[in-house]
Parts: sequence; structure tokens; C-alpha cells
Amino acid sequence: MYLHGTSTINNKNHLEIGGVDTVHITREFGTPVYVYDVALIRERAIGFKKAFEEAGINHQVAYASKAFSCIAMFQLADELGLSLDVVSSGELMTAKKANFPMERVHFHGNNKSPEEIDFALDLGIGCIVLDNFYELSLLQEKIAFRQQTMDVLIRTTPGVEAHTHEYISTGQEDSKFGFDLSSGQADQAIEIIQADRYLYLRGVHSHIGSQIFDTDGFVLTVEKLFKEFQRWKELYDFVPEVFNAGGGFGIRYVEGDEPLPPEQYVKDLIAAIKREAENTGMNVPEIWIEPGRSITGDAGTTLYTVGSKKDIPGVRRYLSVDGGMTDNIRPALYQAEYEGILANRANDETNETFSVAGKCCESGDMLIWNLALPEVEFQDVLAVFCTGAYGYSMANNYNRVARPPVVFVENGESSLVVQAETLEDLLKNDLPLHTNEKV
Ligand SMILES: Cc1ncc(COP(=O)(O)O)c(C=O)c1O
Repeated sequence: MYLHGTSTINNKNHLEIGGVDTVHITREFGTPVYVYDVALIRERAIGFKKAFEEAGINHQVAYASKAFSCIAMFQLADELGLSLDVVSSGELMTAKKANFPMERVHFHGNNKSPEEIDFALDLGIGCIVLDNFYELSLLQEKIAFRQQTMDVLIRTTPGVEAHTHEYISTGQEDSKFGFDLSSGQADQAIEIIQADRYLYLRGVHSHIGSQIFDTDGFVLTVEKLFKEFQRWKELYDFVPEVFNAGGGFGIRYVEGDEPLPPEQYVKDLIAAIKREAENTGMNVPEIWIEPGRSITGDAGTTLYTVGSKKDIPGVRRYLSVDGGMTDNIRPALYQAEYEGILANRANDETNETFSVAGKCCESGDMLIWNLALPEVEFQDVLAVFCTGAYGYSMANNYNRVARPPVVFVENGESSLVVQAETLEDLLKNDLPLHTNEKV
């Protein structure tokens, strides 16, 4: 059994995270419940920053908040000196409510609305990562009207495909994101931005995919982009001050996943950038990264209560839990794999094999296929590991299932940071037929 971060098995044979017995968590907060190991989040954030500090590189480590966002997480990110990558007015609003320093907020997205751009400009965020010509012209219109300056990066698609699931690869040319390098879109964007008196082009961004286990793709991207930098220097006298390499650093979900130590991604990236800077006679730029999954992914564990079982002799044994694709859609969306244990009988011998189903009306609502477990009983607590990224943030209300609460644990203390959705929450926007009155 592989335990992440501070997770251990205590003398009651229960899974403990952050010094807190997970069975107690289920009694206090119910199930399903997302539990975050705050110490592991800290370790990851500090690890990334330290790798830059030790190399003496100016940097920003921007937490990709799409992985998991709530006010408490943004406050923790601030405490840890992280910047923030946001993609919507919802994430911007969360940053505002968390009193996150706006100069460290970077606004991403391939279809920022006029209202979202206004909101970002009102908040005075640090940087907009421009994705396409449509939003470039929208932004130009707005800042000219407001007479407000704005720092921008351009997101490029460098034509590098990371070795990962096709749906989460974004660096290849055929991508909905960013300005393409080979067809000259990035050149055109640079010309437009340079001609604008309110825009300041600080540098370049690329994000080549997710759940990446080696640094070849990052190194290749650096090499490709520095070739462009040389051209841009000659053509436009533009030398990027910032190289934003995006996120995508992998984590261990299941046996066989072999990510590098988080700092290694940074070390290899720095080495490649330094090398190319030297080869091209350019200054080493400020380096920004945007880890999401590798900060919160394996810090999160979801606890469920086991309900029904179904045995199909000679075929499969199913067990169903009180959540599923509503709190973790990744298995259905990406065939993502997870590991889990019985949190209330953590060290019991695992001599049975069960496939873990969610409770939604959808055959694809499976959380784990073929998980080794003890003989499971009704009301056992199933812990599914590594659900801290793209679990809560992708949670949904399919079948009108309410979203679970989120609990942070650290040093033997637990604190509720997102309340469970109630049935009233689920109905609060519904209106009855033929009237405009709320239910
Ligand atoms: C632009 C950008 N940066 C960062 C990330 C975070 O990726 P990860 O959570 O894999 O680190 C993403 C993920 O989609 C992204 O699109």
C-alpha cells in the first residue's frame, strides 16, 4: 500500500491524515468528504520555490487554481508565496475574497469574456496571458477606453506534444489554446502588442500537457522557443523577460506512475533555459511555472461510505459508494486510475477484488476497476487517494447530487474549508412553472 504525505495507519487500524483519524472525519463531516493534507501542499510549494531560490533565478510559482480552488486554498497559496493562475471570473472572485495580492494573479483562458476582462482590469491583476486575436482586440479596446496599462504574456503552442493522455495534451499545434508558432500567429500578436501604447509584452507562455513524467518535452519547448526568441530579437527587438513554462508535472496516482521529484522538473527546466540563453547570447529570463496537480493532487483523499454490493459470479464484484462521477469525473472523462483502501480497516488483508462504482445513473460512473480490498461490508469507509486535483474543481450536480464538503487537516487538527452543499443549495436557482417566484 502506498501512502502519500503524512498519511499513516494508526493503532486502531484506521487511516490517519495530518494526524487526524479519517474515521472521525467521516463521523464529523459525513461522506463523501474531500480531505486535504496541508503539510503535503506546503512541502510541494516550498520544494518548487526552493529549486528556483537555490539556483538564484527570479521566478514565480503560480498555483494553477483550476486544480482545486476555494478561499482557504488561495489563502494558503498566498501564505506560501505562490502566485495564482486563474481562468474565470469565478476564480478571480475567489482570489478577491481571499484577499490574494492581485499583482500575483495571472489570467488565462481561451475565451475570456468582455465582462471577465473588465473584472480583471478592475481588480488590477498582475498579468493577462493572451490566448488569441479575439481577446487581444477586446483587451485593446478596453484598456484604450480606460487608459489603463496591462502586462501581458502570449501563450504559444510550440508544437510539442507531451507523453500523456490525448485529452490533456495542449502543446501540440492542433490545439484550441494559444498562438501557433509555425504559421506566424505569434509573430503577428507580437507586432500588434508592440504597437499598442497600453500593453506591455513581458514574455511568453507555453503549457505542453499534463501528468508528464519526464522533462524531454519541456527541454524541447525551451529549445524551440529560444530559436523564436532569436528571430524576434532581430525582427522586433523583442527579448522576453519572462519564460512561463506552464504546469503539467506528474504525480503518482497508481503503481507504475513514476513522476520525477517535483524539484527535478524545475532543475531541468532551469538548466535548459540557462543553456539556451548562453547559446543565443541572451539574458536568462525570469522563469514562471504553473503547477496545479503537483501541488494539490496527492494531498487530497476522498472518503466514501460503502453501500450496495453486486456479485456477478465469474465476472466481477461491484461495490457502490455514496459519491462517484459527481465528485470525481476523471475516471469517466479520462479513464483516470486511482488507488484506495478501507480507511476503517486499513491493514486488513486484501484478499478480494472489487470494482468501485459511483451512485449516478450512468454505467460509466466507475471510480476504480479491480481494486484489491478485504471483504467489504456495508458502511465501511473507502478512501480514494490522490483526488486533490480536478476532483472538487470538476465536481458537478449530475442526478442532483450535492457536492461534498472539503476539510483541511494538519498537526492533528481538522478544519472545514468548504461546506457541504445542501438540498436547498441545489434548488436555490429553480423557479416554479408559470411564475417568476422562487420556490
Ligand atoms: C495553462 C495551464 N497552466 C497550468 C495548468 C496546470 O496543469 P497541472 O495541473 O497538470 O500542473 C494547466 C492545466 O490544464 C494549464 O492549462
